Amino acid sequence: MRRRSFLSVALVVCGLVPGIQEVSCQFWSRGAKDVEKGDAEGGSQKGVKGEGKPKSSSRDHPEVKLSNGNMMPLVGLGVGNLQHYMVPLMVAGAIQDDKKTRLFDTSHISDNEHLVAEGINQGIERVLGQDRIVTIHVVTKVWYTYLGYERTKISIRESFESLKEAMDNPRVDVKVHILLHWPRCYENISWMSCSEDETRMPDHVRSAGPPPHEDKDNAWKGSWKALEEAYLSDEYSIESIGVANFHLKDMKEIKESATVQPHILQINVWSLLYDPLLMDYCHKHGVHVQVYNVLNGILTDPERAPNAYHHLQKIASDFSEENIEEITPAQVVLAWLVQHGVSIVPRTSRLSRLQENSALALSSVPALSDSQVELVAHSVEAFLSGDDLEEDIHVKVTFHATTKDTFLYWNRHDGGEVRVAFIKQGESFNEMTYPNHSFRLYDARNKDHFIEYRVAAKFGEHEHVHAEL
Ligand SMILES: NC(=O)c1ccc[n+]([C@@H]2O[C@H](COP(=O)([O-])OP(=O)(O)OC[C@H]3O[C@@H](n4cnc5c(N)ncnc54)[C@H](OP(=O)(O)O)[C@@H]3O)[C@@H](O)[C@H]2O)c1
Repeated sequence: MRRRSFLSVALVVCGLVPGIQEVSCQFWSRGAKDVEKGDAEGGSQKGVKGEGKPKSSSRDHPEVKLSNGNMMPLVGLGVGNLQHYMVPLMVAGAIQDDKKTRLFDTSHISDNEHLVAEGINQGIERVLGQDRIVTIHVVTKVWYTYLGYERTKISIRESFESLKEAMDNPRVDVKVHILLHWPRCYENISWMSCSEDETRMPDHVRSAGPPPHEDKDNAWKGSWKALEEAYLSDEYSIESIGVANFHLKDMKEIKESATVQPHILQINVWSLLYDPLLMDYCHKHGVHVQVYNVLNGILTDPERAPNAYHHLQKIASDFSEENIEEITPAQVVLAWLVQHGVSIVPRTSRLSRLQENSALALSSVPALSDSQVELVAHSVEAFLSGDDLEEDIHVKVTFHATTKDTFLYWNRHDGGEVRVAFIKQGESFNEMTYPNHSFRLYDARNKDHFIEYRVAAKFGEHEHVHAEL
């Protein structure tokens, strides 16, 4: 297997390189000591709302103990960038039939927290056991235009108002986690438009505090103070506070001035692989890491790194043999993170994928071996970099033209077909292919006469096909 840049970064920081602090290597080498198969739904240290309520049972969804002692599910559903009409549907769908997905990730800027609340209430109605109190976690975030002490207070207040419908539901114990979405607005990020965004802010926000983009180094510090105060106050019941998209430098600055250290850092999966110093910092200071962008560009685009995709498929098919339920490549990647104590918030707009991405389904993925862990990391990295793994894996199929001269065609996904070989009667042809690819074998003298064949063998196997046309 080709060594990739992530490994070289890790090797530099793992080794005794002068001038560079020694840190642990890959995030997975640190284990996941704080991951628990949840039995503590509702068992928080600080949240007051759930106290005295009966606890619901939940033994089949993994959770993490945050540095404040509160438990948080490792598997959530991201709805931050879902179309609004879908939000209640997907949130309710994730809760109902008890797929054990108990966390929803959104943000103030998404303007859908009220729809999350609506979805929670709808989903709860359909959860089995009407007498149960169900604990649901909502991670929401303060957008960069709300940075600064007073503006952040507005954002927090509005988020709570939007979630009120679910918080007032006696059957739900809503645990709210609030993060700063970005440390600042960046001019060099193409979709951020710092000055223009400011002009679009409502009057009550503009008048509350100065434009944060004019004080980029400090605005978030005022926000952090507002978050700390809200967390420590009796006014709100906030389960944890944290940050998203913060760099190591920002994390160190919080450490110097904060009374409450961030409990959570939400980041792009890219940072998990390529920023070992940040990961090491989180590990050493008990900051829980939650990642986004885990499926986007990876499972959504197998053609970007087909060899890497085949390796993920192989791990999935190996697991499927051991498991009652079929395991998919997406589940392999998600489980790779969850099994190492990293929490995930995959987004989907398809009800059919809620089950696949659910806490319940991911809990049933067998533990990845060390070599599988490395392979998944290499494969994810291949997708992120666009630089595919060098080695591919195949199924070998030998086609025997037993009765007639035969044309062999490979069926494309779009319905078209690609000619692969002409095989004379009595001869054979070897093809390297993949599980489930389908072929068509034609009688060379009569193209109306053909047979379909779909590869049943698994990666690494050799299959023989005797074409009796
Ligand atoms: N903190 C931040 O700055 C930040 C930034 C971005 C996102 N987020 C959060 O993270 C959440 C996730 O968003 P993301 O942008 O990171 O996207 P993602 O979850 O990495 O990928 C979503 C894509 O994966 C597809 N998908 C979902 N399940 C799949 C499966 N089992 N197999 C194959 N494909 C699958 C979805 O397609 P279908 O819809 O067709 O299923 C969709 O196209 C957001 O909703 C948001 O809450 C946070």
